[in-house]
Amino acid sequence: MSKIIVIIGAPGAGKGTQSRLLSEKYGYPQISTGDILREMALAGTPLGRRIKETMAAGQLVSDEILAEVILTRTSQPDCGNGYILDGYPRTLDQAHLLEDLAVKQGKQVHLARIVVSEEALFKRLTGRRTCARCGEIYNVYFRPPKVEGVCDLDSAPLTQRSDDNPESVSKRFEEYRRSTAPLIDYYRQSGRLIELDGELPVSEVFEKLCAAIDGSNS
Ligand code: AP5
Repeated sequence: MSKIIVIIGAPGAGKGTQSRLLSEKYGYPQISTGDILREMALAGTPLGRRIKETMAAGQLVSDEILAEVILTRTSQPDCGNGYILDGYPRTLDQAHLLEDLAVKQGKQVHLARIVVSEEALFKRLTGRRTCARCGEIYNVYFRPPKVEGVCDLDSAPLTQRSDDNPESVSKRFEEYRRSTAPLIDYYRQSGRLIELDGELPVSEVFEKLCAAIDGSNS
């Protein structure tokens, strides 16, 4: 049966990093709701402006908008054999929608949670800088560029996500505890949740994630 791989984790846990690696390995598209919403925010429409404000404040965008995003994106032909959800679901309503969708699409849901302490996450997020041109990711604490504010690879300026400031990060943690943490119990009770130590190096987290996904095939 084709798969929906769901990666759950607090802001900065490594959902995007692991989803990209999974996409390369299994050939499924990575669907990042954060990236899709950031693109919608850029459009400058009234809806885009509302999304932009919500994200910059570290709050969750409404379940209704997310339902539209997910139904539209997962009905594209490239999702036929399976897909990876990076950042969806984040509320119980979203989780229920996903269960119905999986039945309709005839796909099996595989759930992995990446666990990282808030202390480590705070530095990962507030220290994150990204090259505006090539997308290379730096961290002022763990992986600073050779010259402050400038990409080592192409000398383009480094930018900071508008929700990576300390206030928005604290708000994102709050939202996670309030809206997304209840999902963990819901999925645990279903006996399908794999939980991984996200403070291990990226390659080790990935190895364990793949072993769990491949193991659940048998
Ligand atoms: P989104 O873009 O999904 O942001 P997030 O959940 O806050 O997570 P990040 O993208 O910051 O982190 P990540 O877990 O993907 O980690 P990454 O791999 O990048 O969402 C943004 C906003 O959109 C939300 O706040 C909300 O407003 C809205 N939104 C999105 N989905 C929504 C939904 N379903 N419902 C409602 N609203 C929604 O890694 C982070 C950093 O850590 C990187 O620098 C990376 O290099 C580093 N790193 C990764 N793994 C490791 C490791 N193992 N060791 C050391 N460093 C690591």
